Amino acid sequence: MEAYLSEWLGLMVRWFHVIAGVAWIGASFYFVWLDNHLREPPAWKKQQGIKGDLWAIHGGGIYEVAKYQLGPKEMPRELHWFKWEAYSTWLSGMTLLFIVYYLGSPGYLIDPTKADISLGTGVAIGLGTLALVMAIYEALIRSPLAHNGKAFGLVLFAILLLVDWGLFQVFSGRGAYIHVGAVIGTIMVANVFLGIIPSQRALVNAVHAGKEPDERVARLAALSKLRSTHNNYLTLPVIFIMISNHYPMLYGHPQGWAILAAIGFITAFARHYFNLRHRDINRPSILVAAAAMTVVLIWVIAPTPTTSTSTATAAVSDETVAQILETHCVACHAESPTQPGFQSAPAGIRLENLSLLADHNGKVRQAAVDTHYMPLGNMTGMTEEEREQLGLWLNGQ
Ligand code: HEC
Repeated sequence: MEAYLSEWLGLMVRWFHVIAGVAWIGASFYFVWLDNHLREPPAWKKQQGIKGDLWAIHGGGIYEVAKYQLGPKEMPRELHWFKWEAYSTWLSGMTLLFIVYYLGSPGYLIDPTKADISLGTGVAIGLGTLALVMAIYEALIRSPLAHNGKAFGLVLFAILLLVDWGLFQVFSGRGAYIHVGAVIGTIMVANVFLGIIPSQRALVNAVHAGKEPDERVARLAALSKLRSTHNNYLTLPVIFIMISNHYPMLYGHPQGWAILAAIGFITAFARHYFNLRHRDINRPSILVAAAAMTVVLIWVIAPTPTTSTSTATAAVSDETVAQILETHCVACHAESPTQPGFQSAPAGIRLENLSLLADHNGKVRQAAVDTHYMPLGNMTGMTEEEREQLGLWLNGQ
């Protein structure tokens, strides 16, 4: 019953997390789009301090949007801030991190073949990394490096690469991936909480006081712009990482960290195309290059044909394979798993007998032969020889 209820809890939080994320990123895409499509307003609007004008039609109504240079003479009674989308995405994401990785089955986070650490140590490393990287980012964005956008971008990429590589050495592939995603998400929400919102508050205060913004307000605004540029480039990678959790071919790969880095780079680069296009610069070569890099990546990480993925079918008896399933898989992959914490067959895959195994041929090969992603965390100590035997038997099907 406990496992069942915790499944529901995970599902509800995940559902909420996705909705909050859609609202956050959707609003952020919308405002980037808006900013880049503002046109010069007619003279009478300029006189009121409006610097950008835009008309749109949606849901059967026509909208007129105006962006002020600073603000209206008098602040409206109601001003929408768009901050809870970001905060609730992060809070629900952290809750999910706890439910699935810190309080759920240790196999999601820990892989004893990489680092034989306790779950407690894993949690400390995970949370410590989030706090440390956020602190480093905050120190950097307040340093002179912030004056050089390109150099900052490179340093940020290098830091994330190091985090990615480092976490991959101590966590399971999946655990490492989700933590890189959480690091990026934390930087993004800190950008909102520690930079963008305080800067907006300073601007609103200046308008209230009827003052021209002083140097401090202008500096905060410039930094805020850099922070939102970073967030903008991080949106596609962070969403990719969230969904990559369902693809063991990526995080289960021995060089999973390099794959993550490559995809992070490609997706941020693709975002660049849209940013340029919003500024009326159309450079499709960027998308073509991103697509070409993706094709190269797919080719490079394709599983190398070992004896087991080739067509060899040395005789491996049904009994041997049934024994392998019994020892290494069935505790979880059964209608009623005996492994504590599991309520039903994970990923809907039951492996109680050989015909069920044959039904899932491709997936099983990928999870337990081509990669070592299964058994989860290799809790049962499955050997290379057993993987080889499983692969050979699957070839015969
Ligand atoms: C400790 C529990 C556990 C054991 C033991 C285990 N698995 Fe899994 N398996 C899981 C979980 C949990 C998932 C779902 C992972 C996810 O959501 O990515 C899964 C998913 C899978 C998948 C689907 C992967 C995909 O593409 O989504 C396959 C195939 C699989 N396991 C095969 C095996 C085989 C073969 C064995 C035995 C050699 C095994 N598992 C042992 C827990 C286990």
